[in-house]
Amino acid sequence: MRSSLPLAALLLSGCLGEMDPQARAARWNQVPQTVPAGTVSTAPVVPRPPVDLNLLRRGQQRYAIYCAACHGPLGDGRGEVVQRGFPQPPSFHEERLRQAADEHFYSAIRNGAGRMWPYADRLPERDRWAVVAYVRALQVSRRARLQDLPSEVRLQAQRRLP
Ligand code: HEC
Repeated sequence: MRSSLPLAALLLSGCLGEMDPQARAARWNQVPQTVPAGTVSTAPVVPRPPVDLNLLRRGQQRYAIYCAACHGPLGDGRGEVVQRGFPQPPSFHEERLRQAADEHFYSAIRNGAGRMWPYADRLPERDRWAVVAYVRALQVSRRARLQDLPSEVRLQAQRRLP
């Protein structure tokens, strides 16, 4: 289990390194740019930030601060707080959440979700998208196979595996 985190990090840099920026932008832009519910129509439209390594690092850091205690560092819903009796959130690796649109995660951060309170006051717009991008990366990392990694990343990853 411990080895999954460095692997995820390697994978992040690996995936991003492999894909050219245009392809990456095209993939990200496939998601319709909807205005989040509750946005006042006179508010300036903040463009969604492109996903790059900086955004992902920011997302990783914010996730560690604001989400991991409950959702777990790997997103499996088994954070420390949950192990002490707090309601367990669903795993981000569930099929339903793998299929969910980015906006589903954005909205949970902004507006809360069921028993989870909103994080809009602690995570400004850009940070919300950063966390969404990081959650998506966590989802991918869980399912990636070693042979999918670029060879130099694969060698590094293999050295870290038990
Ligand atoms: C204090 C614990 C806690 C923290 C911190 C927390 N969550 Fe949650 N989260 C939950 C719980 C519990 C649920 C399930 C709520 C329910 O179903 O009533 C949940 C639900 C969600 C869902 C909805 C999942 C679904 O079933 O569709 C998303 C998305 C989510 N959280 C993302 C995040 C993100 C991103 C962060 C960090 C910004 C975060 N959460 C921080 C406890 C937490």
